Amino acid sequence: MLVLGIETSCDETAAAIVADDRTILADVVLSQLDDHRPYGGIVPEIAARSHLDHVDRLIGQAMTRAGLTFDQLDAVAATGGPGLIGGVMVGVMAGKAIALAAGKPFLAVNHLEGHALTARLTHDVAFPYLLLLASGGHCQLLAVLGVGHYRRLGTTIDDAAGEAFDKVAKMVGLGYPGGPQVQEWAARGDGDRFQLPRPMKGKPGCDFSFSGIKNAVRLLVEGLEKPLSDRDKADVCAGFQKAAAESIADRTRRAIELMQAQWPETSHLVVAGGVAANKALRASLEQLAGRAGMTFLAPPLNLCTDNAAMIAWAGLERFRLGQTDRLDFAPRPRWPLDPTAPKAKGAGIKA
Ligand code: KG4
Ligand code: ZN
Repeated sequence: MLVLGIETSCDETAAAIVADDRTILADVVLSQLDDHRPYGGIVPEIAARSHLDHVDRLIGQAMTRAGLTFDQLDAVAATGGPGLIGGVMVGVMAGKAIALAAGKPFLAVNHLEGHALTARLTHDVAFPYLLLLASGGHCQLLAVLGVGHYRRLGTTIDDAAGEAFDKVAKMVGLGYPGGPQVQEWAARGDGDRFQLPRPMKGKPGCDFSFSGIKNAVRLLVEGLEKPLSDRDKADVCAGFQKAAAESIADRTRRAIELMQAQWPETSHLVVAGGVAANKALRASLEQLAGRAGMTFLAPPLNLCTDNAAMIAWAGLERFRLGQTDRLDFAPRPRWPLDPTAPKAKGAGIKA
């Protein structure tokens, strides 16, 4: 079984072909980072236009690399949301057009489900497992119980984790995206020089919050002599990273307890999203999982960040359960994986 996946919900245009034996036959990703960098963040209109400029070429590239024609596909999957709606529309239209012209079934995939099921593509992990998804657009803890079956244990009540890294980077004068640079500077700094809050730490539930640390960093930076010395920059980055990682670890520890109480057969803690690249965070999550008798699993970074292989795979998992979508599927800017979870408020929240 062969499925083409298309991803256009954020700032990566991507196409991939995945087989049901978990082989990735092609996986191409075009990052729009250079288009957005001058603005210090993603500009939705620029993202949508850039997807439109490149998506057909990338799909062609993926098909050529896989050595396939559209006739040989079993289904076409495109991200149907949640995400920046202009981009989602571009990918959905491309997917529908190929499905219609080639007479193949179409699947509109929830982007979050793509992240959630990646561990099954890379490591064949059995349900149920716990997923921490932390990127520029999302910060959630999900009980992954089955295809289409999720419980959201926690989500951010304000910014996404990556957004906080990016904003702190901007405050101390580092470029975009900030996460990797904050990590680099933090490695040279003293994480205990400045006292920063650990938002939500010890609070009931598993929700996240990053606006408190972000504002504390803003006040702290305002009080420091300008231009910031390298010492100050490194110590601010180290302090922030330590606070953010502790806060995320605290929330994840609670989610592990919840998962183990409700689904004792849970064996894996899986991470996804760009923030999962953070070494300090990884180390503390690995420790947490080990202490709870669980295996820590981080898929390779190119499959943790936005890509189309995860969309093809999620489409494939749904397709082999007999699920497909109609060609009148309407793209969804918001699309929670757990319909029973209360609606989250806040700018950085997708679903
Ligand atoms: O998953 P991703 O590539 O794209 C989406 O947001 O969907 O995640 C990008 C985010 C950015 O906010 C970036 O600053 C953050 O992940 N990030 C990191 C690191 N590498 C990337 N944050 C902390 N530490 C890192 N090493
Ligand atoms: Zn994503």
